[in-house]
Amino acid sequence: MKKIRLFKPSVGKEELNNIKKVFNRSWLGYGPLVNKFEKKFAGFIGTKYAVAVNSGTAALHLSLLCNNFPKGKKVLVPSITFSATAASVLYCGLIPKFVDVREDDLTIDFNDLKKKYSNDCVALICVHMGGHPSQMEKIRPWAKRKKLILIEDSAESCGSIYKGKKIGTWSDISCFSFEEKKIITTGDGGMICLNDKKKYEKLKSLSFHGWDTDPWKRHNKSFGKNNRFTNHWAYEIKTLGYKYNMNDLMAALGLEQLKKIKTFNYKREKILKRYLNGIKDLKNIKPTYPYKLKNSSYWLFSVKTKFRDELINYLKIKNISTAVHFVPLPYNKIYKKYKNNSLKNTMRVWKQIVSLPFFPDLENKKVDYILNCLKTFDRKISKNNI
Ligand SMILES: Cc1ncc(COP(=O)(O)O)c(C=O)c1O
Repeated sequence: MKKIRLFKPSVGKEELNNIKKVFNRSWLGYGPLVNKFEKKFAGFIGTKYAVAVNSGTAALHLSLLCNNFPKGKKVLVPSITFSATAASVLYCGLIPKFVDVREDDLTIDFNDLKKKYSNDCVALICVHMGGHPSQMEKIRPWAKRKKLILIEDSAESCGSIYKGKKIGTWSDISCFSFEEKKIITTGDGGMICLNDKKKYEKLKSLSFHGWDTDPWKRHNKSFGKNNRFTNHWAYEIKTLGYKYNMNDLMAALGLEQLKKIKTFNYKREKILKRYLNGIKDLKNIKPTYPYKLKNSSYWLFSVKTKFRDELINYLKIKNISTAVHFVPLPYNKIYKKYKNNSLKNTMRVWKQIVSLPFFPDLENKKVDYILNCLKTFDRKISKNNI
C-alpha cells in the first residue's frame, strides 16, 4: 500500500475556476470576494457578522484583543489544544490558566473549570476538540454569571449542530480556521463570527492596520463624477492594528469550499461509521471521542490505546501516517510556568491518543487496509507479540 496521509484537502475544478476569475479580474488582495465570503459564512453559521482573516490564530488573537482587557488578567483555556489557543492569550499580555479536559471527549472539564476560576479571569476559550462539541449548555450560562467573555475556538469544527444550535453561535465570539487540513480550506485562513456590531467594526479595523475605513470601499469611492471632490483616500488610524486580512484569492477558494461543506461532513460521517464499526470488537483500541455523528463535523479520527507508541511504530511500517493531537500545553517549555498541579485527566489521557488518517476523499479500500492493520496489531499486542 502507498503512503496514506493523515489529512488531505479536497479541492477541485470549482475552486480552480473561481481562482481563474480572480486572475482575470486581476484583483488578488483584499476585495469584493472577501466581503462576499464574510456574508455567506456569517449566514451559514447564523451570526450577524463575520470577519475574514488570514489564519485561525489571527482570529483568536483579535477576538481577545478587541475586548481591551487589562494586561495580566487571566484567560481559562483547556490544557489539551493546539498551541494557538494559548498563544493568543500571551499575544495580548494576558495569562493562560489551564483547565483539565474530560477523559471521554478531550473537551474542557466543567467541574475543573469551576475550580480553576478566580476573580481575575476575564475570558474563557472553549475548544471543540477534534470537532467534538464542548459542553456549551453548561458552560455558557456559567460564563455569563461570571461575566466572562466566552470564545469558541471552532478551528476543528465547521457546520455542526449541538443541542439544536450551530457550533459557533454558543459564545460571544467564535473563531474558525481554514488552514489546509481543516473542514474547509482557503490554504490558510480564518473567520471570526459574532453578533456585536461595535466589536465587529473594531475587528475589521484591527485586521487591517487599525484603519477606520474599509480599503475596498475606499477604492470604489475613488471613481465617478459625483465623488470628484470627496476625500475618498482619507483614513484615520485610531488603534494599533495588524495585517491579518484575508485576500480575494483565499476567499475564492473559501466560497467554493463553503458550497461543498455539507458533502464534506457527510463523507466524514460515512468514513467514521466504517472506522467505528471496524474497531468495535478490538480489545486494546477504543475511540477517543464518543462520535455522535448526527449533524456532526468531526475533524479527527482518534483512538485511545495503552500501547500508543507501539501502535504508532507499527502503523509507520505499514505506511500509515499518524499523529498525536496534542501534547498537553503545560508540557511545553513556554507554558510550563503556567502549569498547575491538578490536570489529572490530561496527564493520563494524552499518553494514549493517536490520530489516524481522516479526510473526505479517503477511499474505503484504504480505510479497510488501516482497519486490518489495527486488527492485526490488536491481536498481536494481546499475545504480547509486538
Ligand atoms: C484548536 C485550534 N485552534 C487554533 C488553530 C489555529 O488555526 P490556524 O492554523 O488557521 O492559525 C488550530 C489549527 O491549526 C486548531 O486546531
